[in-house]
Amino acid sequence: LVEETWDAYSKAFAPVPHRICYAVKANGNGAILRLLAERGAGADIVSGGELLAALRAGFPPERIVFAGVGKTDEELVLGLEKGIGEFNAESEDEIVRLGAAAEARGRQARVSLRVNPDIDPGTHPYISTGLREAKFGVPIARAGDILRRARQRPGIRVVGAQCHLGSQIMDLAPLGDAARALADLSRKLLDVGFDLETFDLGGGLGVDYEGGTTASPSALAEVVLPAIEGLPLTLVLEPGRSLVAGAGVMLTRVLYVKENEGRRFVIVDAGMNDLLRPALYQAHHRVEPVAPRGGPAVVADVVGPVCETGDFLARGREIERPEPGDLLAVRDTGAYGFAMSSRYNLRPRAAEVMLEGGGMRLIRRRETFEDLVRTEV
Ligand code: LLP
Repeated sequence: LVEETWDAYSKAFAPVPHRICYAVKANGNGAILRLLAERGAGADIVSGGELLAALRAGFPPERIVFAGVGKTDEELVLGLEKGIGEFNAESEDEIVRLGAAAEARGRQARVSLRVNPDIDPGTHPYISTGLREAKFGVPIARAGDILRRARQRPGIRVVGAQCHLGSQIMDLAPLGDAARALADLSRKLLDVGFDLETFDLGGGLGVDYEGGTTASPSALAEVVLPAIEGLPLTLVLEPGRSLVAGAGVMLTRVLYVKENEGRRFVIVDAGMNDLLRPALYQAHHRVEPVAPRGGPAVVADVVGPVCETGDFLARGREIERPEPGDLLAVRDTGAYGFAMSSRYNLRPRAAEVMLEGGGMRLIRRRETFEDLVRTEV
């Protein structure tokens, strides 16, 4: 499925020069990274750790873009020394620091400025990022001034503008609006002599967690391509979720079934430390029996063993009545699943298995107690 979606992206954007930079944060397992690197993807990274993981998986540095409001000096220097394609700078201070670091090393940092077009993507507030009051980027109206000053710095080479509206975007119209706003800015910059190369619209294409049809890369292309018509720039996209969410399933075993004051609980062996999305965003993930018995359905909360009421995978969900020992599949966990997992309650993290070409292989072993205490001194 990851490969199919990758191909759909490549095909949809084939009419224009483009680079698809997979957002490593969605799922940073090296096996997924290698699969995409081999197909020609670039990588969108947000930390030194993701940079090293992307290089290790074989992404060429020039295909890596580095986002993030809080890049440390160490991370800026690492990106410079590895020769990454673009720093998506998020403040003027960052440009100053990056410029100084580059100059001191006799290098030039390639910089794209992240702007906030102040467009509401209509998604969960925690993952809306392009609004005026968000911590990300700079207001689009100030971009011209900031870039004029950036251009004076010998350590900086301004290559473009970037924006990212937010994640899990289902209505694509705001992405079209953002593309038009960014295209206006890019045209103005080209007009005043900026030698731009890229036009980076970020990620954000959503998936249908209810299992219906999901907005496709070709639908995205339909709103984006008209907005950038005639711009002599390489389109950069940073999809994460849409490439990997649907390809992942979390398996969990039923431990107990109980009823408290009329509320039925199915207690399973995976919790909020394994899949945080329901607890953090009230996100919906389908939960299905792996081997349906065809028995009666009940309404239940599917909850984990963690010591918090927020530790649920599904609430008030109609589900075939499970028995202890049954395996359940929690769907669409390929993005922001393992990536956001933790060891809370000293629970070792899960193993990961990749299904490919009819076979399967272990791509991360289950953690042990020794793994949990390894870094303690
Ligand atoms: N580019 C930038 C600058 C980003 O901040 C993000 C995601 C992406 C690209 C990729 O967006 P995507 O295509 O995956 O929507 N943990 C949340 C999602 C957080 C997204 C953060 N930024 C969740 O589980 O829903």
